[in-house]
Amino acid sequence: MKYIDKIKSLPKKEDPIILAIESSCDETACAILKGGREVLSSEIISSASVHAIYGGVVPEIASRAHTDAIDKVVYKALNKANLTFSDLDAIAVTYGAGLLGALLVGVSYAKALAFSLGIPLIPVSHIRGHLAAAYLSDKELKPPFITLLASGGHTAIIHVLDYDNFEILGSTLDDAVGEAFDKVARVLGLPYPGGPNVEKLAKDGNDIIAMPKMLKGSKGYNFSYSGLKTAVINYAHKCQQKGETFNKADLAKSFQCAAIDILVDKAIDAACEKKVDTITVGGGVGANGYLRESLSKKCADKSIKLVLPQKCMCTDNAAMIGAEGYLRYLKGDFADLDLNAKAQVGIECK
Ligand SMILES: Nc1ncnc2c1ncn2[C@@H]1O[C@H](COP(=O)(O)OP(=O)(O)OP(=O)(O)O)[C@@H](O)[C@H]1O
Ligand SMILES: [Mg+2]
Repeated sequence: MKYIDKIKSLPKKEDPIILAIESSCDETACAILKGGREVLSSEIISSASVHAIYGGVVPEIASRAHTDAIDKVVYKALNKANLTFSDLDAIAVTYGAGLLGALLVGVSYAKALAFSLGIPLIPVSHIRGHLAAAYLSDKELKPPFITLLASGGHTAIIHVLDYDNFEILGSTLDDAVGEAFDKVARVLGLPYPGGPNVEKLAKDGNDIIAMPKMLKGSKGYNFSYSGLKTAVINYAHKCQQKGETFNKADLAKSFQCAAIDILVDKAIDAACEKKVDTITVGGGVGANGYLRESLSKKCADKSIKLVLPQKCMCTDNAAMIGAEGYLRYLKGDFADLDLNAKAQVGIECK
């Protein structure tokens, strides 16, 4: 019998043990979940410190690092969960979006594992994974809700109508918010990864420097970060050209407030307009302390329930891939052995 036919004929388990793999960028991650919402283990081996030397992720270095780390991280996750390969019911894997060479390492490993164990292979979109991280924080969470997606490559307000039904209310017209954090970090002389370092520096800031309004006050849920990023770069360059010193912490704080306030305001507006009582957050910028505090306060003021994933579940990890993989498992969305990595995969794709 062909692999895919055999897989489709297997009975579904109520609380499947799913091993999930994520290798789309510079983190090689493996997690094991029971029943989709209980994380038995979640391990990461990061190559970020190597990329830091170059100021950003170098795709070829990332692929080689994944090749070195994948076996180690899978065994670490199995050991932590006190399980062996024979306990697994399915393998979920990020097949896109991301760096092709990096994705291929995870996809190839997952295929080999699923085939050798005779269990389903579940292809997962990285972005759907970021959205599913919220299910790990609140085991009772169910759509509908509004998600604020704020990551290195995406910025959007999404109305999650059902597990498979999304209405994108607005998104960025140019740079993603995480990308803006990373670029501003470079101008401020901070090391990669930029976001957490900008946040750290902003804590020492006092005075707010005027920043462009971006699309603040405009109708709709689109964002634009290109002007804000350029304003920060111009401010720093003008001071340098005049031989003036400037307060980097103030600039970091001013950028952070401008970048985050608009996200928070539009997420709240969306929940009010759509009459939805819950907001969730997904993506690496969701780990930002100022965003978490500000959104918490504003949600409390409006009696909106806020589901914030743990900080380590906002940035890339495999537990979120397992959470989305479980939803795909329930639907029987399994891949055959010709599954390929894809550089671009949107939210509409599974
Ligand atoms: N504490 C923080 N404050 C602000 N930004 C942060 C923080 N922590 C991480 N980030 C930003 O989050 C981004 C990484 O998040 P994530 O892993 O979700 O993005 P990605 O995987 O590169 O992109 P995508 O998920 O859109 O494909 C980086 O841009 C990083 O600077
Ligand atoms: Mg990501």
